[in-house]
Amino acid sequence: MERNDRGAPPPEQHHGASTTPPRPQPTLAVDRAQALDETELNELAEAAAAAIMDGGGFGWVKPQPRDTLARYFRGVLLVPERSLFVARLDGTIVGAAQLVRPPRNNEAQAFSAQLMHFFIAPYARGHGLARLLVRRVEAYAAAIGVRVLNLDVRETQEGAIHLFEAAGFQRWGTHPVYAQVGGRVIAGHFYFKCLAPTGRRAKGS
Ligand SMILES: CC(C)(COP(=O)(O)OP(=O)(O)OC[C@H]1O[C@@H](n2cnc3c(N)ncnc32)[C@H](O)[C@@H]1OP(=O)(O)O)[C@@H](O)C(=O)NCCC(=O)NCCS
Repeated sequence: MERNDRGAPPPEQHHGASTTPPRPQPTLAVDRAQALDETELNELAEAAAAAIMDGGGFGWVKPQPRDTLARYFRGVLLVPERSLFVARLDGTIVGAAQLVRPPRNNEAQAFSAQLMHFFIAPYARGHGLARLLVRRVEAYAAAIGVRVLNLDVRETQEGAIHLFEAAGFQRWGTHPVYAQVGGRVIAGHFYFKCLAPTGRRAKGS
């Protein structure tokens, strides 16, 4: 399906007489969060809690209290190697992802970064927000000099597998004992994507 430049599908075409006005398209946005106010932290905690209850996919398995999640995200904002991206639907935070750079002592892998903890709350899925989130994280990573983006995902996360493969990530391996959820061992797939230099870096400066 075609999408507008914010990642949303084009408005539906209506033929013939209809009394129902077309539903307005939701506004999609993604930004890198360097600070979040209390309302935003609560929205993010709410979205994370809903995603965990729906089956998680970003580490947590058991439902977490909202204040634990809010504290967690407050901590993420303080870690220099982590960049937090938030996805908004009509202005409200409904999802997030983290770009994690290697620590400074890991010079051998300084060109790479890990895309982690990626989720959209169940109540905000299907609008193209995840696709926009991947695009924005990739663009930011390329702009700060990341040349290879790595990620891993449980084999059961079908939506995420579709999303990342459609975005050009290549699967290079499968770990048969990757995660344990509800006493069940789950395999995980590992992916990478090479990023082209952008902006001034692309000109070799
Ligand atoms: C995967 C996830 C991020 C998708 O969010 P979303 O906002 O609904 O995704 P989008 O609307 O941007 O759709 C992106 C693409 O994924 C596809 N997709 C979404 N959910 C899907 C599913 N369950 N099965 C197959 N494809 C799916 C969409 O059809 C779309 O495909 P297209 O680009 O070919 O049209 C969301 O379902 C989620 O948070 N899942 C749980 C957490 C998770 O798996 N995180 C990743 C591992 S860290």
